[in-house]
Amino acid sequence: MTDEKLLYEGKAKNVYQAKQADEVLMVYKDQATAFNGKKKELEPGKGVLNCKISSLVFDYLIKNGIKTHLVRNVSDHEQLVKKTEVFPLEVVLRNITAGSFAKKFDVETGTHLEEPIIEFYYKSDALDDPFINESQIHALKIADKQDIQYIKELTLKINQLLIPFFAQGNFDLVDFKLEFGKIGSEIILVDEFSPDNCRLWDKQSHDSMDKDVFRKHEADLVTTYQKVLDRLVSQEN
Ligand code: C5P
Repeated sequence: MTDEKLLYEGKAKNVYQAKQADEVLMVYKDQATAFNGKKKELEPGKGVLNCKISSLVFDYLIKNGIKTHLVRNVSDHEQLVKKTEVFPLEVVLRNITAGSFAKKFDVETGTHLEEPIIEFYYKSDALDDPFINESQIHALKIADKQDIQYIKELTLKINQLLIPFFAQGNFDLVDFKLEFGKIGSEIILVDEFSPDNCRLWDKQSHDSMDKDVFRKHEADLVTTYQKVLDRLVSQEN
């Protein structure tokens, strides 16, 4: 652990100042939350699993030319990352209908979309992360038009890389949430990529292997995330 200053306490991670001024330490927690923190439980082992899964995903993206904040893992649940100015945006991409999209538009879950959908949400616990459109992002000076365009292109590129990555583990990548930050004029991928912030369905059974098992009380979260890690690791070997 670290004696450094706590910069941010999140639901799934804490962020501390690192020794180097331009780096921070991300510490993954065992706490699982859903419905914007309304459902909260301790899930021993979750922090380590998410850190390992996210490292595999980020390493793969980095190898494929995506710039990210990851510097290196310093333990099984801690990552040293570059300090960025994080956009207060959650960028959601959907390949298959599910979750809030299926509910909001009263459409069937499990329909493959002809083209991926990108949605933005304004990160604010107090406001319950409301949907925000591009002109609102621009008007509120959250990001300029060029940055929004670049974030959308990067999100689509990441999706094109991650669909085959997860397919090798026999998963359909249904949807996911990304966050981006800026260093100078450069926009890079930040935060994590784990079953906490994506939907993964087994290709044959269509069983959820992500946080939906916790949201819907379908299966044990830690056992499910361990299976995800095992399948991603075995595809690498
Ligand atoms: O709930 P919804 O269908 O909008 O979620 C879309 C995707 O974004 C899911 O993979 C979900 O796990 C992720 N998400 C997230 N953090 C949020 C909201 C959604 O990681 N605050």
